[in-house]
Amino acid sequence: KSLVILISGRGSNMQALLEANLPAASITVISNNPAAEGLALAQARGIATHVVDHRVYASRESFDAALAEVIDACKPDLVALAGFMRILCDQFVYHYQGKLINIHPSLLPAFPGLNTHARALQEGIRIHGCTVHFVTPELDHGPVIIQAAVPVLSQDTPETLAARVLAQEHRIYPQAVHWFLQERLTLVDGHVEIIGVNR
Ligand code: GRF
Repeated sequence: KSLVILISGRGSNMQALLEANLPAASITVISNNPAAEGLALAQARGIATHVVDHRVYASRESFDAALAEVIDACKPDLVALAGFMRILCDQFVYHYQGKLINIHPSLLPAFPGLNTHARALQEGIRIHGCTVHFVTPELDHGPVIIQAAVPVLSQDTPETLAARVLAQEHRIYPQAVHWFLQERLTLVDGHVEIIGVNR
């Protein structure tokens, strides 16, 4: 199996995937940001990396087309967004339908978009978490694969809450990718099916 991981920054979810002993013969990491810390982490593990710098392209469409060209050269079975901070155009999303997944730091459909932890504290919710989902054209929507919940504590700051959620991200993202690469996880008529998992 061929796995492509897209990152923009720190790359801790990428690292969790690289440490997970996934059934993938080929793993490639691609960043839109040449300064992404995750690139060096991947290279240190001998993983092939590419940069497609969005600032070089005049439009979202031309960036997405260049990105798709690099991804398609990897003949991916699965494309995993891991802290990838660019919005992708509909055409790109349709091209990878059923094999494009994302991790988001909230219990979707609550808190799509940015600054999820600060917004969660602002709202006073008591349960927060993270979601792995198939990507659809609508940002941070799409069929849910797996979620993990954490408590919000009275003394939490966005940073302490983010750390508690991130530990769960590092657990559920490798789980979801593992299911997919084992051909147990599929998107059927817009619904998630996971063989052997009662949900
Ligand atoms: C994670 O919280 C991810 O869910 C969000 O951005 C953060 C990226 O962290 N989309 P990292 O680059 O994986 O360390």
